[in-house]
Order: sequence, then structure tokens, then C-alpha cells
Amino acid sequence: MSAPFLADAEATAALGARLAATRPTRAVVHLEGELGAGKSTLARALLRALGVMGTIRSPTYTLIERYALPDGEAAHLDLYRLGDAGELDFLGMDELQDAAALWLVEWPERGGTALPAPDLVIRLRWEAEGRRAVLEPRSVLGQDWIQRLDAAAGGSTTGTSGST
Ligand SMILES: Nc1ncnc2c1ncn2[C@@H]1O[C@H](COP(=O)(O)OP(=O)(O)OP(=O)(O)O)[C@@H](O)[C@H]1O
Ligand SMILES: [Mg+2]
Repeated sequence: MSAPFLADAEATAALGARLAATRPTRAVVHLEGELGAGKSTLARALLRALGVMGTIRSPTYTLIERYALPDGEAAHLDLYRLGDAGELDFLGMDELQDAAALWLVEWPERGGTALPAPDLVIRLRWEAEGRRAVLEPRSVLGQDWIQRLDAAAGGSTTGTSGST
């Protein structure tokens, strides 16, 4: 399991860019962590690295923001304000399942089983002045992704702790 230490917000953004550079053609990513853990910082950097221009709004109130990518669509969700998982139906989940090549879901815990299963779970938590990101693959696709990520970084995303 990869568990890089992210000393500052720039390091979080750099991880997002590396995830973008190594991403598979279709993937579901769950971003877990407390308020302010850096989920949006990571998602925004990933989208930016994929070529999304203009403002990248936080889906705090809209619950979802969608972006066109060259090979499909990216869906950025923030389910913090979701009342119950049934509300997800109003977001057009079926259509989204077909259209979205990349899912970035903040607060996936609130979506329950209405959400597609993750290929990669990224957990962010406070550590010293920065954050620790724990990347946990949940599918073969996710495993391959982490392997490419580690290879691209020369193995440096493998932290010394958090790998239990
Ligand atoms: N590695 C890091 N070290 C220190 N600060 C960071 C790091 N990564 C992000 N931050 C900062 O943490 C703050 C909160 O980040 P962000 O909005 O991305 O959190 P979030 O997890 O999306 O929160 P929420 O659950 O409220 O949506 C921002 O000011 C961001 O710059
Ligand atoms: Mg956020």
C-alpha cells in the first residue's frame, strides 16, 4: 500500500497530478478524510492535470460537478450534505455510470451502496503540519494504477508508516 507524506498543499496537488498522469481509462476514486483533510485539493489538482480549464467549483452544495475529458467525463462529488443515500437517484446515477470515465467522490460513506464500488480509496489524515495519504487499491485496475504511480515516482510514494 502506498502512503506518501504530504508536507503541504502543494504536495497534495502534486499527488493529484501524478494520479492524473498514471490513471486508467475508467476509474472510481473514493476520497476519505475529515473536514479539511485535503480531499478537494487533491481532486482539483487531478482535474486540472487532466486539462480541465476555468473554475473548478467545489460540489459542496450542488453535490456534483461534471467535466468533459478527451475520453469521457469526470464527475466530482461531495456527499457531505447528502440527506440520505436515496437522494443520489436525483443526481442521475445510472446515466452517470455510463458517461463518467473518472469518479472523484468526497464523503463516499454517505452515498452507501448507491455509489459505484471504488477502484481506489484514498484516505487523508493529519500528520504533523501536513497530511498522510493512504492509497488503497480495491480492484485489479486500482492495483495497476498504484504500481504505475510508484514506478513513476521511483518508489517514493511508498511511505515508511501507515502500511499496516
Ligand atoms: N498536505 C497538506 N498539508 C497542509 N495543508 C494542506 C495539505 N493539503 C491540503 N491542505 C489545506 O487544507 C485545507 C483544506 O483542504 P480541502 O478543502 O482540500 O479539504 P477537504 O478534505 O476537501 O475538506 P471538506 O471535507 O470540507 O470538503 C486547504 O486550505 C488546503 O490548502
Ligand atoms: Mg472538499
